[in-house]
Amino acid sequence: MPVRDAEPADADAIAAISLVAVPETYRDLCEAGVVRSIVEQSYAPEALRACIARCGRADDAHFLVAERAGRILGFLHYDCDGPEPELHRIYLDSAEKRQGIGSMLLGELHARLAAGSGYILMVIAANHPAVAFYRKHGLVDEAHVDGPSYMHERMGVAFPPGTAPVPALVLRFTKPT
Ligand SMILES: CC(C)(COP(=O)(O)OP(=O)(O)OC[C@H]1O[C@@H](n2cnc3c(N)ncnc32)[C@H](O)[C@@H]1OP(=O)(O)O)[C@@H](O)C(=O)NCCC(=O)NCCS
Repeated sequence: MPVRDAEPADADAIAAISLVAVPETYRDLCEAGVVRSIVEQSYAPEALRACIARCGRADDAHFLVAERAGRILGFLHYDCDGPEPELHRIYLDSAEKRQGIGSMLLGELHARLAAGSGYILMVIAANHPAVAFYRKHGLVDEAHVDGPSYMHERMGVAFPPGTAPVPALVLRFTKPT
């Protein structure tokens, strides 16, 4: 199954996956307003198109897609646009989970990183499948944070006033030398 760099024309397919996968992932973990804010602000096709185009021009950002027979099954977005390199998102079509596709996306990112370099990511602590996935790939605990505050500070997502805290973990990957 090919993993390749996303192109702006992939934005609609990526938005379609996100529209289902993001609410499904966080339905029982976060308030509805948090999920709505993330989807509306980070996964609108125009926002994705701009992000993919920017990653395509940058040497230190990767927006990857996995596809089978021309159909996009999942995506990964890694960027160096914050204080340090960060894996911002990795989502699969709901029907395609636990078949190694997430591992292929992450493996392609790790193959592109220089030995000794690494990145951080934030994951909602109660998202147990994702935490298990990251641990399996060698990520280690770095900090405990509040998910919505982190997303607001690092990604500029605005949440409704009074949004309750959501425990989250910052994990770190370092590529072996
Ligand atoms: C997290 C995600 C990207 C993982 O991709 P995936 O293709 O489903 O995972 P893989 O098949 O590559 O799994 C690799 C390993 O991760 C762990 N893992 C993956 N899914 C798991 C689950 N549901 N429960 C427990 N461990 C899991 C296992 O160790 C697995 O190895 P194994 O199948 O040999 O036991 C994918 O499930 C997904 O899109 N989830 C919803 C979105 C999400 O939570 N994204 C992360 C936001 S921070």
